[in-house]
Amino acid sequence: MRITDPVRRLVAYTPGEQPRSKRVVKLNTNENPYPPSPRCAEVLAGFDPDRLRRYPDPEFAALRAAIAKANGTEPDRVFVGNGSDEILSLAARAFVENDEKIGSLDPSYSLYKTLAAIRDVPWTPEADDPKVSLFLLTNPNAPTGVMKPVSEVAACARRFRRGVLLVDEAYADFASGNCMKLATAPGNRNVIVMRTFSKSYSLAGMRVGYCIGPKDLIGALYKVKDSYNVDAVAQAVALAAFKDRAYHRRTVAMVVKTRGRFAKELGRRGWDVLPSETHVVFAKPPAPAKAADVFEYLKSRDIYVRYVPGPLTGDRIRITIGTDGQMKTLLDALDDRFSGGSGGRAAFGARRKS
Ligand SMILES: Cc1ncc(COP(=O)(O)O)c(C=O)c1O
Repeated sequence: MRITDPVRRLVAYTPGEQPRSKRVVKLNTNENPYPPSPRCAEVLAGFDPDRLRRYPDPEFAALRAAIAKANGTEPDRVFVGNGSDEILSLAARAFVENDEKIGSLDPSYSLYKTLAAIRDVPWTPEADDPKVSLFLLTNPNAPTGVMKPVSEVAACARRFRRGVLLVDEAYADFASGNCMKLATAPGNRNVIVMRTFSKSYSLAGMRVGYCIGPKDLIGALYKVKDSYNVDAVAQAVALAAFKDRAYHRRTVAMVVKTRGRFAKELGRRGWDVLPSETHVVFAKPPAPAKAADVFEYLKSRDIYVRYVPGPLTGDRIRITIGTDGQMKTLLDALDDRFSGGSGGRAAFGARRKS
């Protein structure tokens, strides 16, 4: 059996753990703690199975039109993918020659390096490297949660005219701003802004992401995609979630509020917390505690967070914002092991009896 050299050498992307037990507090894979809009359940309940006999709309016209309208742009500047991960993979195929490079911030979403390896081209953190033809700029960034101002991203796009700047806004709905206007601007030649239904719309299990950009770049993504890349159920459910603006606003506001209170509570306990504009906090425990040990300890208490070893990330843990109850459980567990706090009491109510 012949396996190509790049695939043989490939170190595959490792997704976060998906423990099977329902008892665990799962704050490790940036999922939303709240259910998707009730409109999604209605669409699923009313979905006619006969529609599954037929192929789905290959151009996801209804969803595309809704996304275009909400962003004040034309449908032919919108692309929808089977999760934004698919869009990243298609971009690596469409915008990078064999002798070019893929760039991204470091640290950032670790899949980017894997995509470069699959495509068998070098990865670099240097946007000014003349060989970079696709730069994947996560904003706000993951795992740090930190956001660059639009002016800085716009300046980056101007400097990077020779290539495609894909601004990965997976977390932008939790942020105080975003770069969408760079993508929809009439004069835009090289900026694509990408969003996902996995985080703020609570649809990670459905796999829908989208992006907006110049017509020719969006057209190139259409050319290289699978014919029917977004299934019929996903198109219908994502559209229902997208249209329920009030629910989206409400659940995003709940997450943002919990994030603020939780970050403050960690700060009171001596943790160094980066200012987050996502639904994640990236935090360093106070010495002598080590991030790796805190991660293992929390796991022993059935609380899953993410720890990525290495010089840029190894002194912190990444905690996805859950419900107030989940954050309280985590703070209580920290206080059982490390002195100095008052459980989640101050911010999240009375302490549970154990
Ligand atoms: C920065 C970033 N981009 C993209 C994705 C993938 O999202 P999707 O579920 O839409 O494939 C993630 C998932 O964690 C992410 O962190």
